[in-house]
Amino acid sequence: MSLQRLLRVRAPTRQFLRSSVGPSRLRWSSGVSYPLQLASVTPQHAALYKESLVNPARFWGDLARSKLHWMEDFTQTMDCDMSGDRLKWFLGGKINVSVNLLDRHVETDPTKVALIWERDEPEDHQIITYQELLDETCRLGNLLKRDGVRKGDRVAIYMPVSPVAVAAMLACARIGAVHNVVFAGFSAESLRARIIDGGVSVVMTADEGVRGGRGIPLKSVVDDAVEGVESVRRVFVATRTGSKVNMDPVRDVPLEQAMSSESRVCPPEALDSEDSLFMLYTSGSTGRPKGLVHTQAGYLLYAALTQQYAFDYHPERGDVFACVADIGWITGHSYVVYGPLCNGGTTVLFESVPTYPNPGRYWEMVERLKVTHFYTAPTAIRMLLKFGDSWVSKYDRSSLRTLGCVGEPLNDEAWLWYNNVVGEDRCTVVDTWWQTETGGIMISPRPSPDDSTPKPGLPMTPFFGIEPALVSPETGRVLEGPNVSGHLCIQRPWPGMARTIHGDHDKFINTYYRPYPGLYFSGDGARRDAEGHYQITGRVDDVINVKGHRIGTAELESCVDQNESIAETAVVGYPHDTFGEAIYAFMVPMEGVAVDEEELVADIQASIRKKIGSFAVPQRYLIVPGLPKTRSGKIMRRILKKISADQPEELGDTSTLADPAVVQLILTKHSDKYVS
Ligand code: WT7
Repeated sequence: MSLQRLLRVRAPTRQFLRSSVGPSRLRWSSGVSYPLQLASVTPQHAALYKESLVNPARFWGDLARSKLHWMEDFTQTMDCDMSGDRLKWFLGGKINVSVNLLDRHVETDPTKVALIWERDEPEDHQIITYQELLDETCRLGNLLKRDGVRKGDRVAIYMPVSPVAVAAMLACARIGAVHNVVFAGFSAESLRARIIDGGVSVVMTADEGVRGGRGIPLKSVVDDAVEGVESVRRVFVATRTGSKVNMDPVRDVPLEQAMSSESRVCPPEALDSEDSLFMLYTSGSTGRPKGLVHTQAGYLLYAALTQQYAFDYHPERGDVFACVADIGWITGHSYVVYGPLCNGGTTVLFESVPTYPNPGRYWEMVERLKVTHFYTAPTAIRMLLKFGDSWVSKYDRSSLRTLGCVGEPLNDEAWLWYNNVVGEDRCTVVDTWWQTETGGIMISPRPSPDDSTPKPGLPMTPFFGIEPALVSPETGRVLEGPNVSGHLCIQRPWPGMARTIHGDHDKFINTYYRPYPGLYFSGDGARRDAEGHYQITGRVDDVINVKGHRIGTAELESCVDQNESIAETAVVGYPHDTFGEAIYAFMVPMEGVAVDEEELVADIQASIRKKIGSFAVPQRYLIVPGLPKTRSGKIMRRILKKISADQPEELGDTSTLADPAVVQLILTKHSDKYVS
């Protein structure tokens, strides 16, 4: 069966933008109708999935032409190998992402609601239409251009979750600048490192952020971050709370004031499919955070398709998509901004926290905004379930249809509560696996070959075009068949894959493509069951996942090691009821230094807050005489993990350690302090 028939693609009808793009330059097809319900994909799923693997160029090429608006058609769908050096999609095509997100929907219905801004202030939301968002985006685009920002320049965005932050991202997309959104919870030093590494020339921020009723002094953090950084010549400051902030008369410009005189027409730049759209930093197992780079067309297509199919999202029915992630993470990029807006949907910007003013916040919002799709992290679910069901049941959740989550394994208890209490057992729970590097959802219960109700943990199936492989870490061989566990890799290219690490392509190759040649290595472990479904078991590298945030152990350890009383540190994750994993720091003091433990811990916490951010502060600390090491000097984290998980019986063979006695000493100290 042809792909067109499988996807029930109607003959394209031509549409032209009235505004800034001349019709003569457009060669897109639009008005394509996709199956209205995933129920209608389900019986065809097997055929579609097969087609996506047998004929990927035709599969992705057809979708890219029908789903996206091109300024110039592409000449080749893909040119990829899995060595990581050649990852090109939609070659020769010219596209503008902001046109795909805004202009074409304004054309159809300028009054359609694009954004609902759920501000920190309870029961207070604002509505922004597609026309309004386009106007703001264009004004901002013009302002950036007037200020000298050119195609390829990097712009840092350190802002609260807000319409102006979305407009800032899209203004970059409009003029071909590369946005570098930094989560507005990162410290000045983290922001500074990202600004320097990214070669950023312009920073966009706000006077203050507000979360849970508390002010966050964003502008003053930016002041510290850019102090002495020569590449930064401009800081635009939006007004969120109106609090008084220092303004450098040369460098700093009040954003709203400067925008107001700009035109609301800004011709979109015709960009190559493979021009960079954004960079986003994430922690890895070694050293500094890496700025993953995503490009225009492939990323956009993948974010939009996965948002539509994994969530069964229908903008034409007025669906309201509430992904409550911060725009500072990839989840916010793909499923607050790019996916939903590309699909012409209505997306919620959630600025607050789940417990402000009380633990009913999400569900009160669901009732008030008639949210149909809700997407959060397991840690939020685990935290909320502890407050009891009444915070949920007192609000009307009948609008909800799909409940998604991402970031870490969703344990059975949390799955059941999400499904039974929040979803009243009538919504579809989608536990989606993906990463900053993958651009969009890779493995999830929908779309799927069968439409039986998902069960806790299972079943998760790969998205169209995605072919996972489980690899044995011992032999490096791909494990075939059912009932196997291994390192989760991906065998084929997909349009949403990251293309490089900014400024360090070697690291990109070494991290993702060299461990298992010919495969993309995710850093996670997974299991495949008898039916071929996947279950993600967690990181297999030295990355800790706390509340769905990736924290690199090396980064954290070097921060602790900087304390002058500390000779050496090892940091591991241990299971935590609410956070998923929590952080445990084992610290070896300098020879002959008497340490006051309380003081030391306070010092360390302060320096982690300053250097990384408060979310990376460990929950447990132990001063130990030494660390378990191999004879070649490698720290055996496996042993520390078992100790911190209270599984001393599973320590295994410790006789090969350089100093086996140290394990017993650590174990005793740990039990004295933390085991009741
Ligand atoms: C890591 C990626 C992608 C947005 C959120 C985090 C873990 C993600 C799941 C899931 C188990 C998951 C993995 C992955 N992870 N989703 N459904 N089940 N683990 O993005 O910061 O790039 O982190 O989050 O360990 O590698 P990220």
